[in-house]
Amino acid sequence: MKEGEKSDMLKDRPRLFDLDDLEQKPTTGNGFYGKDILSVKQFDPDSLAYIFDVAEEMREMVRRVGGADLLKGHVLTCLFYEPSTRTSSSFIAAMARLGGGIIPITQGVQFSSVSKGESLPDTIRTLEQYSDVIVLRHPDEGSAKMAADYAAIPVMNAGDGTGEHPTQALLDLFTIQDELDRIDGLHIAMVGDLRFGRTVHSLTRLLAQYNVKLSFVSPEILRLPLVIMNDVRDAGLDVRETHSVADIIETADVLYVTRVQKERFSELSQYDAVKDYYTITPELMERAQDNMVVMHPLPRVGEIAYSVDGDPRAAYFRQVQNGMYIRMALLAAVLGKA
Ligand code: CP
Repeated sequence: MKEGEKSDMLKDRPRLFDLDDLEQKPTTGNGFYGKDILSVKQFDPDSLAYIFDVAEEMREMVRRVGGADLLKGHVLTCLFYEPSTRTSSSFIAAMARLGGGIIPITQGVQFSSVSKGESLPDTIRTLEQYSDVIVLRHPDEGSAKMAADYAAIPVMNAGDGTGEHPTQALLDLFTIQDELDRIDGLHIAMVGDLRFGRTVHSLTRLLAQYNVKLSFVSPEILRLPLVIMNDVRDAGLDVRETHSVADIIETADVLYVTRVQKERFSELSQYDAVKDYYTITPELMERAQDNMVVMHPLPRVGEIAYSVDGDPRAAYFRQVQNGMYIRMALLAAVLGKA
């Protein structure tokens, strides 16, 4: 056979795909297509309403038929440098329910080439060769932004140190709206580790766009960072800080409880001094409003007694399920399918 000529075998090979038939135009009008999700600062009430509407449709679809092929042919990489149960699993479940594939690096990056010293940029530039979207959790604030700067595909921030956890904040806000049918006019109390809790930082910034009253309940050393407090005050919200849950329990519409983050303390003695500061008990719940909602991003390590779980106001496992619908909506949106 001469150079440049095709063998008979190659000439006769039937085409496997009709690519023109397979190709679909992405939905781009909502502004999410191809975008990174790095911070709640990217969202306003209009775009939140859009994502919540898609999430509600996802919920209805899952309840009726379990899943659909909306993201068939797309691959999600879940790259987690810190432990996770909910965020990693819900992203994986979200992609699976929409018919997509998953590269799950969630059981410890020590089993990837990170353990050989591979940098975050090289890891990202490698994984984007195989996937259409990357979800990243990393202990360093700003890591998701750095990953997004290197990646040509969308990167979603699944928690960057004590910085942000935007998809958690979206599911938290979705849950508040779902439980109480509104956001404006509510009194929302954040309780626990407001200093290191990135879910609190992100949710507070989202709530600053609404007409809500916010109470921040923490021990002195775990107060909300000043920069976030200033943002909330600049937004003109009614804000108070207190050390005591008793001060807010009778008027709160939402009690957003958080774990004291042991892993962020440099001195264990400081952690020991505040770790058992608050426990939400059935006795405390008796003083709360009949329709108050108790939320927690989880995991909990004692700050809500297990005996509260049977109270219909305990919404934290409904909140967990909402995470999957919100992440289905976000994946569909950034991949041009919503
Ligand atoms: N809420 C949350 O981020 O939980 P995980 O750490 O289990 O992902």
